[in-house]
Amino acid sequence: MPPTATSALAPPSDATRRTSKPDKPFDDRRVVGPSAKLAPLSDHLLPLKRTILAELGTSPEQLEQSWRGVLAALEVHTAKIAQQGGDAIPHVHYKDIEKGISEEQKVIIRDAGCVVVQGAVSEEEAVGWETSLKDLVKAHPGIQGYPSHDPQAYELYNTQAQTRARTHPAVLNTQKALLKFWGSSLPRASADGEDLVDYDTPVSYYDRLRLRKPGDRSFVLGPHIDGGCVERWEDPVYRKVWGKILSGGDSWKEYDPYDARWRLGAKQDLYGVPNQCTAHRSWQGWTSISHNAAGEGTLQLLPMLRLATAYVILRPFFRPRDPSSGSLHPDDWELDLDSAMFPGSRIGASGQELSVESHPHLRLEKTMVSIPRTRPGDQVYWHCDGVHAVEGYHGGKNLSSVMYIPAAPLCMKNARYLRDQRVNFVHGHVAPDFPASAGESTFPERGTTRDIKTDEGHRALGFMPFEVHAPELVPLVDAANAALFGQ
Ligand SMILES: [Fe+2]
Repeated sequence: MPPTATSALAPPSDATRRTSKPDKPFDDRRVVGPSAKLAPLSDHLLPLKRTILAELGTSPEQLEQSWRGVLAALEVHTAKIAQQGGDAIPHVHYKDIEKGISEEQKVIIRDAGCVVVQGAVSEEEAVGWETSLKDLVKAHPGIQGYPSHDPQAYELYNTQAQTRARTHPAVLNTQKALLKFWGSSLPRASADGEDLVDYDTPVSYYDRLRLRKPGDRSFVLGPHIDGGCVERWEDPVYRKVWGKILSGGDSWKEYDPYDARWRLGAKQDLYGVPNQCTAHRSWQGWTSISHNAAGEGTLQLLPMLRLATAYVILRPFFRPRDPSSGSLHPDDWELDLDSAMFPGSRIGASGQELSVESHPHLRLEKTMVSIPRTRPGDQVYWHCDGVHAVEGYHGGKNLSSVMYIPAAPLCMKNARYLRDQRVNFVHGHVAPDFPASAGESTFPERGTTRDIKTDEGHRALGFMPFEVHAPELVPLVDAANAALFGQ
């Protein structure tokens, strides 16, 4: 039996602990009209664009050079993706992960910012998870979810199936391989561990699950990026992530999406929004527990990470000279430095919305490609800045079922979140970043530590002290264990 922290069993009234966020319908962030997306935001943002340029010493002319360079590159890359379709999304077999991904595969995955991993969990085991979830939903009518009138993405965080999947050795092994894409330029010395990240140690970030019905058209989730909205520009630390993109000229080409340096201190949630991730979630992801094919309500991705990010970050600084022309030519766009226009952003939204109207140069109508067919037990991961959506219609014959399981590394930001998430898990409550609801506290069959089969799994969920993998990580491991176990 692994050591279990007494603090893990503390009652949920612990005043120092963050609780789940105020109840706000799951639907809120998804239904955004085009006019709302293109309206100016609050007046307090009026000076923001010039402030950002002044911080970096970037002249308007230099920024315009970057814009033109990004638009030219987009013309080439969007055409390529439109031609490739689903083939633009890399896939690897789990056996490749076990052997070690080749350098060639790494480059492809790094550039696309997404990957499908096939065959990690056995089909039989994954289907068993889906069956148990269907039984659970049937046994507890009234579980909340999205859409609210006919839930298909359920407010379930603590089921046995999720617990087993999150701690499955092949899932954790996959996550370790993908977390290694990050962190090449992090500082390697920190007395208190705050600046350190251990990319060899995945920790679990709880999210929900989806059992989408055949024929469904109500699960509306257009192109978006999670991890905050206007916070990308407004938060003084978060915007440092985009320093290279906003420094003018060709510097955007040096932007490294896998540099976590500023992300640890970034506030992605300035407005206390439910569903907003406050952890360092390197890769978003899901594990398939059914067959999911294109046209069957599956995930769509824009497999072009660095260039798309550069465009999204530069976009608020420019506007069309004549919005009615629809022209994408750089000469028909001009600087916009004194407005509160942040197309696709809203104050207090959990994600950055994108559409053909707000981000026309991404040619989303052609570049949002459905992922290749996944079988039960396959996994999909996409970078935390990756543009993603869900097909509007499920034209298949069976449930399209996935459990949202991302990849997050050990760092102090995540250790503190894990501490609070652990308490909620023990009591069957909603995970801290999500809207408060009745939770699963009265479900006798919910997940427990008995569903975790390995030491690594216990560590990932915060029930066993972390181990040191490299001497420079001692301050982090010590601080994380102190936060979780009071050692
Ligand atoms: Fe999302």
